[in-house]
Amino acid sequence: MYVLSSLEGFVARMQQGEEVERATIRRYAEFFANFADRCHHGKEEDILFKTMTEHGFSNRVGPVAVMIHEHTQGRAHVRVLAELGSRDGELSDEECDALAEHAGAYVPMLRNHIAKEDNILYPMAERALTPPELAAMTEQFERFERDEMGRDEHHRLHELANLLVAEQPPFVPDQEACETCHACGMF
Ligand SMILES: [Fe+2]
Repeated sequence: MYVLSSLEGFVARMQQGEEVERATIRRYAEFFANFADRCHHGKEEDILFKTMTEHGFSNRVGPVAVMIHEHTQGRAHVRVLAELGSRDGELSDEECDALAEHAGAYVPMLRNHIAKEDNILYPMAERALTPPELAAMTEQFERFERDEMGRDEHHRLHELANLLVAEQPPFVPDQEACETCHACGMF
């Protein structure tokens, strides 16, 4: 997800002494709260996880429970970004630390979360559900996107993502200054 790499770059530059604008933090929070939480995770919680629990998966332990827990964790990190973005004035040192801490936890968490869904959870659902059940679920996803998000909102969030990635490109470590390849973050 390009916006995750963009956020990573934004925080890395801040840690190197670049000044950060609260408006940019607000935009990241706006993007993740709507695109990740409301659209993607909303769709999973309202449709996919619900369907999976109806087919015998537990929502208290196991893979579905882990995904639900990670959604909660992700929302807590995004709430902190939104809070930091909503204040006025220059960021204090404590606020910079909080930004680095929460964005630093959120980025790898969401990357791993997406990988677990793609490689473990969705294949599990595909094995557990019959083709007509899967087709019905796809239809529910489409209805959710149409009714809950709408074409204009989807378009607006894509524009926001493009803007963030253009303004805040992913961080590329300075190769001249880089002495330890395993620790420079390039991987
Ligand atoms: Fe998810």
